[in-house]
Amino acid sequence: MINKEQLNSNIPEHVAIIMDGNGRWAKKKGFFRAVGHENGTKAVREAVESSAEIGVKYLTLYAFSTENWNRPKLEVETLMKLLVSSLKKEIKTLQKNNIKLNAIGNLESLPKKAQVELLEVIEKTKSNDRMTLTLALSYGSREELIKTIEEISIKVKNGVISPHLINETVINEHLYTKNLPDVDLLIRTSGEQRISNFLLWQIAYAELYFTEVLWPDFKKSDLFEAIYNYQKRERRFGKTSEQLS
Ligand code: FPP
Repeated sequence: MINKEQLNSNIPEHVAIIMDGNGRWAKKKGFFRAVGHENGTKAVREAVESSAEIGVKYLTLYAFSTENWNRPKLEVETLMKLLVSSLKKEIKTLQKNNIKLNAIGNLESLPKKAQVELLEVIEKTKSNDRMTLTLALSYGSREELIKTIEEISIKVKNGVISPHLINETVINEHLYTKNLPDVDLLIRTSGEQRISNFLLWQIAYAELYFTEVLWPDFKKSDLFEAIYNYQKRERRFGKTSEQLS
């Protein structure tokens, strides 16, 4: 078990998590999938609080993908209800910990109730500055890139941007993540080793960390273990080891 004292000062600025394994966790225990999601929200709270505690500035959680709309209607409804109830309940935790809430994705496709609750918590926490918690909701990276290309194309057509001046900064400014830095560490739980259409552009130089732990079982020490592992890696950004030292 890794504890806080074993970490050095090189804390990743932006941690993103693919929270996977709620369904399998429930199945293993003989529960309905909904129970897995409910317990997943407890793991969300622990991950948020422990990230803030060690000085992570940006935490981005993949809470609902564009593809998740294809799940059984009842499960989608459960997830949306959990989102609304968690937002109502956790506003206090966010305020207490000075955390700003942010959301990325096709938010208009969420049920009205979820949109209203989300916007309210975003508004109430907008001045908090210890950490930004971003929920990816109805998010898909390809959809985000299509939207970005469309917006830039319109600007080119209208003469607002010259095609020769399109660079990484221009693209970044049109993504849902325009206010976030690139991801430093991407964690996926439950043993799957895939990206599943999450932040494809933003993880270009991220360190990837996969763990067998199912999301509802992901505790503070598991997060610290991921960061401990990250701290042992050498991020070269295309350079040689010698150039870095
Ligand atoms: C993946 O497990 C998890 C999800 C699709 C949803 C993540 C949602 C939560 C953790 C709870 C709600 C979140 C917030 C922010 C209130 P899975 O169902 O794909 O698990 P499986 O692969 O084992 O079936």
